[in-house]
Amino acid sequence: MQAVNTPIQENEKLNANTNEAERKPSGAEQMNDSAAKVGKTVGKPFAKHPKMTMRNVDVFYGDKQAIHDVSLDIGKNEVVAMIGPSGCGKSTFLRCLNRMNDTIEICKVSGEIKLEELDVYHPKQDVVPLRARVGIVFQKPNPFPKSIYDNVAYGPRIHGLVERKTDLDEIVENSLRRASLWEEVKDRLHAPGTGLSGGQQQRLCIARTIAVSPEVILMDEPCSALDPIATAKIEELITELSEKFTIAIVTHSMQQAARVSHRTAYFHMGKLVEVNDTKRVFTNPEHELTEAYITGRFG
Ligand SMILES: Nc1ncnc2c1ncn2[C@@H]1O[C@H](COP(=O)(O)OP(=O)(O)OP(=O)(O)O)[C@@H](O)[C@H]1O
Ligand SMILES: [Mg+2]
Repeated sequence: MQAVNTPIQENEKLNANTNEAERKPSGAEQMNDSAAKVGKTVGKPFAKHPKMTMRNVDVFYGDKQAIHDVSLDIGKNEVVAMIGPSGCGKSTFLRCLNRMNDTIEICKVSGEIKLEELDVYHPKQDVVPLRARVGIVFQKPNPFPKSIYDNVAYGPRIHGLVERKTDLDEIVENSLRRASLWEEVKDRLHAPGTGLSGGQQQRLCIARTIAVSPEVILMDEPCSALDPIATAKIEELITELSEKFTIAIVTHSMQQAARVSHRTAYFHMGKLVEVNDTKRVFTNPEHELTEAYITGRFG
């Protein structure tokens, strides 16, 4: 049977034809056009006192390249925000920094990634001590099915950081305090971590990460499952934590990037387009693609 167009469909067809000349490209079309516009990273990708240095990093999933020749430093005690449209490779790149991609069999990483002098991808490098130095907090809070106390004590125990129970108690208390959770949980340390609210669970995961005194904390959209109040608490925490730790945070919220980070890195289709002081990125971006993204033309 031949399909018959409804009047509305006819109208749309007509408008589509008459407006063809002035029809604006869709976000997806702009993205495709823009692939050609990404050249060398512009701005300030390097830091004076780098904690982590990444050079010419490529990442493939099977035949598909997800990260193209990315070079970036994260400075000591710096907060670097990573932003960009969905699928541009933010999480992939972040996960390279403590080798979380190792668990994905088809994922191949090349280039150089260093934590100070340590070659993160050296074949003899054990990932367990590496991840004690470079911790990660994920989008969805993922406390272990253990008590609040045992969630935080887990890392120090497996890394053999303490011998005495009193030392462990102290680490647990300090980590929960630094994660701004102590006052809320001090009377129920032996209750399950999974019984906390979402925002509390995320702070518990941050406490668990900082309990092993990492040097770098990676955060992949740590607030996207949280309400504005819990988000504000985590953001305050990030600012406090940056006094002691180096932080890389992936976020979809430009306001969040603007509030918490020193420099912002804009990724586009697996390439690092621009890195600049955060204020500059959001007020006067150097690259036209960054501008298109922050003004909402795609993403
Ligand atoms: N495990 C995987 N296997 C195969 N391809 C993957 C895998 N993980 C990510 N990819 C692909 O790599 C590219 C980058 O994905 P990635 O998750 O890093 O993007 P993202 O910027 O974090 O996106 P979002 O903002 O949606 O989280 C995408 O094309 C994605 O489909
Ligand atoms: Mg992601």
